[in-house]
Order: sequence, then C-alpha cells, then structure tokens
Amino acid sequence: MDNTRLYKNIVILTGAGISAESGLSTFRGANGLWNNRRVEDVATVEAFERNPEFVHDFYNTLKPEILKAHPNPAHFALTRLQKEYPAEVSVITQNVDTLHEKAGSQNVYHIHGQINQAVCLNCGHILESWNDVTTETVCPSCGIAGMMKPNIVFFGENLLYMDKVEQLLRCCDLFLSVGTSGVVYPAAGFVQTVKYYGADAVEFTLEPTANNYLFDRHIYGPAGKTLPQFVDELISSLRK
Ligand code: OAD
Repeated sequence: MDNTRLYKNIVILTGAGISAESGLSTFRGANGLWNNRRVEDVATVEAFERNPEFVHDFYNTLKPEILKAHPNPAHFALTRLQKEYPAEVSVITQNVDTLHEKAGSQNVYHIHGQINQAVCLNCGHILESWNDVTTETVCPSCGIAGMMKPNIVFFGENLLYMDKVEQLLRCCDLFLSVGTSGVVYPAAGFVQTVKYYGADAVEFTLEPTANNYLFDRHIYGPAGKTLPQFVDELISSLRK
C-alpha cells in the first residue's frame, strides 16, 4: 500500500462488527445471533414459506434494540471521511441496522436489506416501519393483507443494489472492509473484485478472517478505535 496515493473512489464494506460497539450482536462467535438459533429457521426463503409468523416474530423482536442503538466512533469516522476527503466515498453495508444513516453517512447501500422495512410480495411496495409487521399486515399501496416480507435478504435470494455495487467495486481504488468475517458470499468476494481492478484493500477486524489473504493490510482491534485513527491518518496525508 502506498501511503502517498491520492484516492478517488473509496468503498467501505461493513459488517456486524462495526455495530458491536453500539451494543448490537454480531452473527458468529460468542453470543452471536446465529449461536443459539439455526439460520435455516429464520433467514432462508424456505423458512419464510414454511412459517412466516415465526420469521416475522424473529425480526420484530430485534427491532426495539436496533432502534435505540447509537452510532459509535467507527460509524462517525466514515461520515468524516465522506466530508473531509476529496473522493467519492460509498458505504456498502451488510448490516440491517441504520447506524450509518444515524451517523450522517450518505451513499449507503444496504445489500442485505433493512430491519425497519418490509416489502410487499404482491406489488413490491416498501413499507418503512419500526413497528411489528405480521402475516396480517395490509400493504398500504395495494391493500392486500398477508403479503409483507421483512426486507431482509434471505439465503437463497439476490442481494440488493448489485448493479450499483458492481460499478462501485470496478472503479474503487481504496477498499476498506470493517467488521465482517468474510464467510458470506457474494459480499465476501468483493475484495477479490477490487484487487483485480487494482485497488488497495485494508481490513479492520478483531481476528483473522476467512478471506484474510486477499487484503494488503490488516488492522486488528475494535473498529471504534482503529477506524477513526486510520481516517485521521488518511485525511492528514492530504496536507503532506
Ligand atoms: P459476523 O458475525 O460473521 O462477523 C463479525 C466480524 O466482526 C468478525 O470477523 C469479528 O472479528 C468482527 N468484529 C467484532 N467486533 C468488532 C469490533 N468491535 N471491531 C472490529 N471488528 C469486530 O458478521 P458479518 O460478517 O456481518 O446476513 O455477517 C455477514 C452476514 O451473515 C450478515 O449480514 C447476516 C449473516 O447471516 C443476513 O442476515 C442476510
């Protein structure tokens, strides 16, 4: 990695680890959301077809905690990068929380959906709500009841915003991966794409990740500390 390089297109991929210091659970590891439940029961197309009530309940239960969470210094560091570094800075997040937006970030792409949204399987309307959505909920657009699905990308579904994401990855010259274990594809493969197109790639994590070998640099430690420091250095390098 060249410390004097002036970047023009920065892409940050975030995962559950960036929100850990805001008190939200990650998916894997000790106390992870997938530790005491099966992904197959709540996060697959088949699970939703089999038992939509159970799946709605699972996501409804997560909403209050996510709604009251506050962004941490890692989220704010990305907002600062967007404001103070003269590049196009985009955030691709796997997180279904809205902490990047709460921290004031722009250009945020929720490729795994958002917990505060439901999509009507009849007409495609996106309902924004922090209230419970159930199998009885009526779509405010088409008026049909019982067709709302949490706007969470289940295993077996396509990711959202992929056209835009592909375009961002191809133009990217600095790729930061923050708080993601690198096991869930296609997001885990983004680093491979950006390396192919010549970007520098840095990961911020607590421990080595599954696709560790593809990054130029690894910064270990809580993102709330390491990311603000990295952003500070990047912005300071402009004055040299
Ligand atoms: P994981 O739980 O798999 O990984 C979290 C990563 O964050 C791990 O590598 C941790 O080391 C790291 N981490 C934890 N705390 C951190 C901190 N304070 N600072 C820096 N890093 C920290 O979460 P994801 O990779 O986001 O999909 O999981 C990917 C997808 O798997 C999720 O979007 C979700 C899940 O199935 C859907 O629900 C569609």
